[in-house]
Amino acid sequence: MARLLHIDSSPMGDMSVSRGLAAAFRARWEEELPTGTVVYRDVCADPLPLLDRDAIMTFYMPEEARTQAQAEAARYRTALAEELLSADAVLVSAPMHNWTIPAHLKAWLDQVLIDGVTLVQPGETHPLAGRPATVVLAYGGGYTPDAPLAGWDHVEPYLRTVFAGALQMELSVITAQLTLVNEPPELAELARKSRREAEAAIEERARKVAAQLAG
Ligand SMILES: Cc1cc2nc3c(=O)[nH]c(=O)nc-3n(C[C@H](O)[C@H](O)[C@H](O)COP(=O)(O)O)c2cc1C
Repeated sequence: MARLLHIDSSPMGDMSVSRGLAAAFRARWEEELPTGTVVYRDVCADPLPLLDRDAIMTFYMPEEARTQAQAEAARYRTALAEELLSADAVLVSAPMHNWTIPAHLKAWLDQVLIDGVTLVQPGETHPLAGRPATVVLAYGGGYTPDAPLAGWDHVEPYLRTVFAGALQMELSVITAQLTLVNEPPELAELARKSRREAEAAIEERARKVAAQLAG
């Protein structure tokens, strides 16, 4: 049975564009693959703790030397890692906050990325290699290559490094840009176009991922 790990990270609830797009993906995926299961994590409703010294050091010491706090941190992080590694597909939605990902999502990544467990050495094949990851983003401004702030986007390049680079997943990034722009009319039209294109891309990607996992 195919398992989708779905993670939302916008604090904006039902006002969130990225959550809305991810929900559309999930609805289509569930319709196309009714036998599939979804593991859902809302990192805003249930925030993950920031990494502390115990959570880091626990993986660099013999198990029997761990304090209770270190053992608990190891159990917590290992469970998150198992949740990720058992996913046949991953869906992550995120807003741009101050040109990068929100702290809630970074906290999940910091907890779940563990040397030798969810991170492999260069040249090694990752257990998630080739599995589909879909990253759905919403930006208030515009960061296309021709935009004045093109180089300020530290969301997509960073998440590409994580999901396509470190985790070696087959990655598709779908972004609605200019979500906060209502004027001038030319920019408002670009905003509507970006949203329409993102919605169409979501439909196509959800069908593709479902078909891949069904077959
Ligand atoms: C705290 C905060 C910081 C933001 N920083 C940026 C930014 O650096 N660049 C940008 O284009 N939009 C920025 N925005 C606007 C959001 O990217 C935009 O509202 C987007 O739609 C958020 O995704 P969401 O609708 O899924 O929450 C920011 C919004 C908030 C609340």
